[in-house]
Amino acid sequence: MPRTLDPELRRALAARIRYYNEMGIYDFYRRPLSDRAAEIAATTVVDEAEIAVSTNQPESGEEMSPRKATAVAMPVAIQGGENIFDLIALKPEQGVSDPVKALKIIREDLGDCTRCVLHKQGRKQIVFGVGNPKAELMFVGEGPGADEDAQGEPFVGRAGQLLNNMIKAMGIEREQVYIANIVKCRPPGNRTPERDECATCSPFLMRQIAVIKPKVVVALGAVAAKTLLAMNASMMQLRGRFYDFRPAGVRVNDRSNEPRWDGCKLAVTYHPAFLLRDPRQKGEAWKDLQMVMNELGMKPPEKKDA
Ligand code: URA
Repeated sequence: MPRTLDPELRRALAARIRYYNEMGIYDFYRRPLSDRAAEIAATTVVDEAEIAVSTNQPESGEEMSPRKATAVAMPVAIQGGENIFDLIALKPEQGVSDPVKALKIIREDLGDCTRCVLHKQGRKQIVFGVGNPKAELMFVGEGPGADEDAQGEPFVGRAGQLLNNMIKAMGIEREQVYIANIVKCRPPGNRTPERDECATCSPFLMRQIAVIKPKVVVALGAVAAKTLLAMNASMMQLRGRFYDFRPAGVRVNDRSNEPRWDGCKLAVTYHPAFLLRDPRQKGEAWKDLQMVMNELGMKPPEKKDA
């Protein structure tokens, strides 16, 4: 017998999904019910659907975190009949094969963002990201500084000059790569972005990465690495290897006609601002970049004789 959702419940689920969509989150995945949940679900249709709602309910007084939202599945038990996945909107850029257009759609979706406190802490503008929308290589930093906030482009200050030199040393131009940050608004006084700010902003970055479909993402510094990899470890532990990376929320089996993309490699290196403070680590950063170049089949430019 086909199962249908209680209309009340359907409304609650639709409202919850809309909430996530407004946070820039459009992907949910199906999690099998636990034994206990399945036992309850076996009793009535309404009960099983209630599990789907209540499992994602924040504790009383707890803020609902979008990071959690991307990581927490919708435990849907309804098979065969009405499917709550039918309620889920497609990402607005879904099915748009031109990455320039798709990025523009994501930028429009971001709007004049007020999703976290950074919007009222002195930001001049949102710094979305810049570069080749079909880049094979993408760099992700922490957040805009004063220069980036003024110019609306990531990595244009002193750290940006060093990043440009690092890119040049790899034998390519800045225009060939894509550059973005974990948070798109300048944290006041260049403080480190808070976890909730990273969590609120990063779904948009994840969508940018999913559109660009790079072969390698380089996380610049600990904030970028920890946010992208959703793990807490020291730079020492994080560097020196590749991670298989799929942006949170990106499904492998997309229902759209877009070319399949199963994710990419992610490498971690020092943030250029850190290298400006401790230039002795530049050799280590160069080792990281050489690992990336090797993965991408790139050769460093020939040294010109003086
Ligand atoms: N530092 C960052 O992390 N990002 C920028 O865009 C500039 C400096």
